[in-house]
Amino acid sequence: MKISGWTALLGAAVLGADAIQLDLGSDDSIKQAASTIAHNMMTYYVGNQSGQVPGLLPPPYYWWEAGAMFGSLLDYWYYTGDTTYNDVTEQALLFQVGPDRNYEPTNRTSDLGNDDQAFWGIAAMSAAELKFQNPPEDQPQWLALAQAVFNRQAGRWDEQTCGGGLRWQIFSFNRGYNYKNSISNGCFINLGARLGAYTGNSTYFEWVDKVWDWMTEEGLVSPSFQVFDGTDVTINCTQLDHVQWSYNGGVMLLGAATMWNQTTGDEQSKWGDRVTGLLKENMVFFQNGTTMYEVACEPNNNCNVDQLSFKAYLSRWMAATTKVAPWTADQILPLLASSAQAAAQSCSGGNDGSTCGTKWTQTGWDGAYGVGQQMSALEVIQSNMIQKVSGPVSNKTGGTSKGDYSAGSGSSSHVDNAPGEITMKDKAGAGVLTAVVLIMLLGGGYWMSVD
Ligand SMILES: *[C@@H]1O[C@H](CO)[C@@H](O)[C@H](O)[C@H]1NC(C)=O
Ligand SMILES: *[C@@H]1O[C@H](CO)[C@@H](O)[C@H](O)[C@H]1NC(C)=O
Ligand SMILES: *[C@@H]1O[C@H](CO)[C@@H](O)[C@H](O)[C@H]1NC(C)=O
Ligand SMILES: *[C@@H]1O[C@H](CO)[C@@H](O)[C@H](O)[C@H]1NC(C)=O
Ligand SMILES: *[C@@H]1O[C@H](CO)[C@@H](O)[C@H](O)[C@H]1NC(C)=O
Ligand SMILES: *[C@@H]1O[C@H](CO)[C@@H](O)[C@H](O)[C@H]1NC(C)=O
Ligand SMILES: *[C@@H]1O[C@H](CO)[C@@H](O)[C@H](O)[C@H]1NC(C)=O
Repeated sequence: MKISGWTALLGAAVLGADAIQLDLGSDDSIKQAASTIAHNMMTYYVGNQSGQVPGLLPPPYYWWEAGAMFGSLLDYWYYTGDTTYNDVTEQALLFQVGPDRNYEPTNRTSDLGNDDQAFWGIAAMSAAELKFQNPPEDQPQWLALAQAVFNRQAGRWDEQTCGGGLRWQIFSFNRGYNYKNSISNGCFINLGARLGAYTGNSTYFEWVDKVWDWMTEEGLVSPSFQVFDGTDVTINCTQLDHVQWSYNGGVMLLGAATMWNQTTGDEQSKWGDRVTGLLKENMVFFQNGTTMYEVACEPNNNCNVDQLSFKAYLSRWMAATTKVAPWTADQILPLLASSAQAAAQSCSGGNDGSTCGTKWTQTGWDGAYGVGQQMSALEVIQSNMIQKVSGPVSNKTGGTSKGDYSAGSGSSSHVDNAPGEITMKDKAGAGVLTAVVLIMLLGGGYWMSVD
């Protein structure tokens, strides 16, 4: 009796010591929590070890999620000042640029979507805005990398179907080529608005207007500012997949807020209304109006690996929104605080006693773990430092990253030759997916509708 009682006490004490303790009133507490969570996240990354490829996460994590993760480490440094991961982040962001310095590495031809590329481009954009260490002169520069991604995507704007829009996939032989989705178009908006703000070049803003209008016409953005997942070119975008994912609400929010920041008069009112509408509709991602959750998959325990990381981006972009549209802070900061507190208490599992779970809405760790869980908890917790840090710079307010308006279209242009590489096997695969997507859209069965 005595011994087991002692063991139980000891166990509780050890767990208590290891679980994330978060006092949002203390900067040190926030930084300590973020440090513990980032450390656990980086145990998944071996890309900087000898014989490994910098910038890649091991399966089941796709290429894009590594770009997203390095974006979260840029934020980590921005919020905490801790430079532990800066060199490994720079190395990864530079290693994956590909032969044309545009985040279209040759190895990724089989799974490169516009959204995947954009997550890396958005990380480069953050590096420029946050004044992350500039790469050596002979290496690609952050601003130029973001411009390269933007230029490539502008070149893929497709008016052959649905009156415009970016397709999800870049290559016709990849599954999902017929799908035009909100995350691809939303990332293009997010990146365009921020490039416009950084450079002062209004061409970017004209693109943002055009993409936003197209998404509205097709119903991807509803009149009340819900953001639905996507639509299909084989039916000329006449029907929608109505699932709402948190990253779609987030990517549009920061895009609109940045446009509000960069406009005046009627234009500014228009963007302000969009920000207000998105903030209202994004409440669907907060259970009981307090705790962030992935409403389309968490309740039914069917989030895939990608979706487990989406809360990271909603957190990231909500926090950034308060910097460019400060009037949103009253609404956003309490949500980041309550969600951070909920996330922290979920970080109480695993061998280290501080592994983060998927569901912040339940008490304690839910037994789940992975890069997505760590990244989501990291972003929401460190976001609570947002009022202690300065906003994004532009090239007029201290930004030093070098740009290049013609970046992205290098000489190797492997991408333009890519359709010639289609094999019969690939073709069959894409055809099957098209049929499946179509059935899903028409049947409305597989995808869950949330509104
Ligand atoms: C890889 O990066 C981690 C930081 O995440 C660092 O602790 C480790 O020493 C690095 N390994 C090598 C081989 O550089
Ligand atoms: C592409 O794959 C090869 C073979 O695995 C590897 O050596 C190379 O580093 C990879 N490049 C990138 C950019 O991932
Ligand atoms: C396809 O949709 C676009 C935009 O909604 C529309 O302008 C066009 O007329 C449609 N094409 C056909 C063939 O219905
Ligand atoms: C929070 O929401 C859940 C699910 O909708 C519900 O079961 C629970 O009762 C709510 N809790 C509170 C305190 O409102
Ligand atoms: C626009 O954003 C910048 C960067 O965060 C900020 O300093 C500025 O105050 C914002 N402008 C307005 C009108 O809020
Ligand atoms: C800002 O961008 C403009 C346009 O590209 C360029 O002419 C100017 O030199 C840049 N300013 C700085 C400080 O880099
Ligand atoms: C503005 O950006 C566009 C698109 O990249 C570019 O073509 C144009 O030259 C830029 N304008 C100026 C004045 O630098």
